[in-house]
Amino acid sequence: MKNSKIKFVKAREILDSRGNPTVEVELETDGGSFLASVPSGVSKGKYEAVELRDGGRRYHGKGVMKAVRNINEIIAPKLKGRGLMKQKEIDEFLIKLDGTENKSRLGANTILAVSMAVCRAGAAAKHLSLCQYISQLTERPAPLSLPIPSVLMIEGGAHAGNELDFQEFMIVPWVNPFSKSLQIASEIYQELKKIIKDYNPPTASEVPAEGRRVAGGSESHRRRAPKYINLGINVGDEGGFAPPVRVPEEALNLILEAAKNLGYQKKIKIILDVAASQFYTDGKYKMRFGDFTSDGLVRYYLGLIKKYPILGLEDPFSEEDWEGWEKLISNFQFLISKPLVIGDDLLATNPKRIKLAKGKKACNAAIIKMNQIGTITETIEAAKLAKSYGWEIIVSHRSGETCDDFISDLAVGIGADFIKAGAPARGERVAKYNRLLRIEEELHKN
Ligand code: PGA
Ligand code: ZN
Repeated sequence: MKNSKIKFVKAREILDSRGNPTVEVELETDGGSFLASVPSGVSKGKYEAVELRDGGRRYHGKGVMKAVRNINEIIAPKLKGRGLMKQKEIDEFLIKLDGTENKSRLGANTILAVSMAVCRAGAAAKHLSLCQYISQLTERPAPLSLPIPSVLMIEGGAHAGNELDFQEFMIVPWVNPFSKSLQIASEIYQELKKIIKDYNPPTASEVPAEGRRVAGGSESHRRRAPKYINLGINVGDEGGFAPPVRVPEEALNLILEAAKNLGYQKKIKIILDVAASQFYTDGKYKMRFGDFTSDGLVRYYLGLIKKYPILGLEDPFSEEDWEGWEKLISNFQFLISKPLVIGDDLLATNPKRIKLAKGKKACNAAIIKMNQIGTITETIEAAKLAKSYGWEIIVSHRSGETCDDFISDLAVGIGADFIKAGAPARGERVAKYNRLLRIEEELHKN
């Protein structure tokens, strides 16, 4: 086939949504030119593949010129003239060329950018859309379907400058089709903005002693003038609001109030990304609203599950605290509908960690992030393994993103149950949701 050979590969340094450098690859075949760029996390797992950064003073050490040179000088000459149809072969070649367990020689950002561009060109050579092509690579039977979006409303942790230790408060609109879910998420997001502007937090005397049982505030605090006005609607790295609240229940109450105002309270569920590794020190979970032991945190989560429509908890414990994970799941045995216990940092999209977690009965759902492992082939393998255990799959963006919408096709192609791509706002976030709207149209045509 004329357009099935790589003519040239070229990398360049571009900026991501946080304004930090990242790698973009341009790959040319007779069939056209294909771009791909890679994301970058800030609350990273210990077991992720290595992201290559230059160090030094340039871009505060965050430059990626080493990665760019690795592509232009080492990888590109070796890929020129190669056939495109063999994603697995090319990925295996890249893995071998790197030669390390965690891709620390060439960099996972280096390798992934090439792997993604090869995949895009491979789809075009086969005259398939990217999601159809990925579904072939995954060896999934048709038909394709869209993931359910888990949409960010409020953020904290490493992604925002507020005092909220839990990282992400997401809503999952429990409706069909995808476009309707997105509409509901967007309406709630806009309503939440209004509610936060009017918000006045309870004073110390109105908060119960342990500071963990705030239910929307007392009558007296509702009568006071709003405290934060516009400051509360500043957003974090992924477009979620970052109001000056500290206690998770307050954030949850704000979101549920917004849903209720629009009559959507029965149509949504909640996923929390606690990102607990971020505040795990000396065997304790040290948060600004209180310190918890692993057992204390299990009890706290069980309380939240009783009170709120919690569909899932992502990284509820540190990636090192296997006992916490096991205890939480073992407490679910009497629940009729069991929440998802989702491994992100815990699993790092790594088949070895996924197997370990299965053996320990630590979770029942997996986050899939391409740059945690570094190639499309390994990403697909990790997703297939987790699926083979009966786990739910959630394809995810990173907090530092570009407008590349590859993960939308990935989610559809591998048959993910959910996708998380941040708030329904900000270009790099809506790029993913908008691509899914187009895929929805495409699937309806067929
Ligand atoms: P990160 O966070 O992209 O900053 O690592 C996202 C997440 O923890 O899900
Ligand atoms: Zn996470």
